[in-house]
Amino acid sequence: MSKPSLLKKLNLKYPIFQSPMAGVSTPEMASAVAAAGGLGALPLATLDFTQDSVTAFEKLDKLVEATGTNAVNLNFFCHEVESPPSQVQADNWKALYRNVIADAKFKQVIDSTKFANGNISFKEIERDQDKLAKLVDKLKSIKPSIISFHFGIPSNNIIDELKKIALVFATATSLQEARHLKSNGIDGIILQGIEAGGHRGQFIDTFQPHLDEDLSTQALFHKVKQSLANDGIYLVPAGGITSPNSVKYYLNQGADAVQIGTAFLATPESSSSKFFTKYSGEESTVMTALVSGKPARCVRTPFIDDVVQKNQFPLSDLPPYGYAYDAYKKLKGELGANGGAGEDIGFYLAGQNHFQLRKGKSTSEVMQELTRELA
Ligand SMILES: Cc1cc2nc3c(=O)[nH]c(=O)nc-3n(C[C@H](O)[C@H](O)[C@H](O)COP(=O)(O)O)c2cc1C
Repeated sequence: MSKPSLLKKLNLKYPIFQSPMAGVSTPEMASAVAAAGGLGALPLATLDFTQDSVTAFEKLDKLVEATGTNAVNLNFFCHEVESPPSQVQADNWKALYRNVIADAKFKQVIDSTKFANGNISFKEIERDQDKLAKLVDKLKSIKPSIISFHFGIPSNNIIDELKKIALVFATATSLQEARHLKSNGIDGIILQGIEAGGHRGQFIDTFQPHLDEDLSTQALFHKVKQSLANDGIYLVPAGGITSPNSVKYYLNQGADAVQIGTAFLATPESSSSKFFTKYSGEESTVMTALVSGKPARCVRTPFIDDVVQKNQFPLSDLPPYGYAYDAYKKLKGELGANGGAGEDIGFYLAGQNHFQLRKGKSTSEVMQELTRELA
């Protein structure tokens, strides 16, 4: 089944999507990507649309206003709704962090940590018909180019409703997930390879990481293209695409666009730029679920090494995603940038090709470079 080109459909100069990067990308980044001819993104995972207050809706308005265009990708997390941690999970988390942050004066801070859900899933919003209707109305008034989901998708009737507003995209990390998205009416798939920075958007077999094939972006793209290319679904590889040649490669191979995150991490428009501009590029990355509760590729700092090496608990005996991540963020807030004890306890999400970061370049300069090989 042939489909209209994404460039025409979205009125873009270049088929380059900026990755939504919760806590890292900014409206200024999305704006610069849009001005350079690509598609900017606004990650909304930390806005709680389930609350009665109007704050999340106001914040969304402000984000779109600061971007200066509604031709953006509005991105939601859509993981299964988690329960608050059990006493055992909460105690284990405290034991882990007491072990990692050894300075006795922080024991009280760690022990008094309260667990709350910091990453609201779209599935949670779906449970409240009033809030859902309000959010859908808001999305109708914004009319973004794309509404996208990471870690899963909402129910079919909501997907149908959202498709009247925008193209609906979601992340897949395997052919099985891509097929699931296709059969549930999703318009386009972000094919996230194992190289990608940030959280792995996996939503099938999430509790069985040993069954994850860990496909590279290239292998995943070709595998899915072979199966679904003629099904009229847009395919957008993501992960490790940091050079003009890699952009050109995927587009020549039939990708409808590429999604890029790590290449923008050291730009002044990234809220992580302070860390990444100091960066040698020789650092390793590692995939770990121990900080947030879900597998994420991040820089292997001494803090991450400590967490991985000192942890004695299986993931299922630690607080679930959302709660674990929020507790970690609170702890970081309490302890200050240097973990109180002189160690940087930042959790710096980045992809394997971070060594190609353009330090000192702005988002628009990175865009200029990435599009260099495109006619
Ligand atoms: C710092 C960071 C934060 C991310 N946050 C999100 C997010 O909020 N939503 C999402 O769908 N993907 C998120 N991702 C994953 C990206 O969508 C994409 O898969 C990834 O950036 C592609 O790999 P690359 O970083 O090597 O370019 C994030 C990636 C990074 C690097």
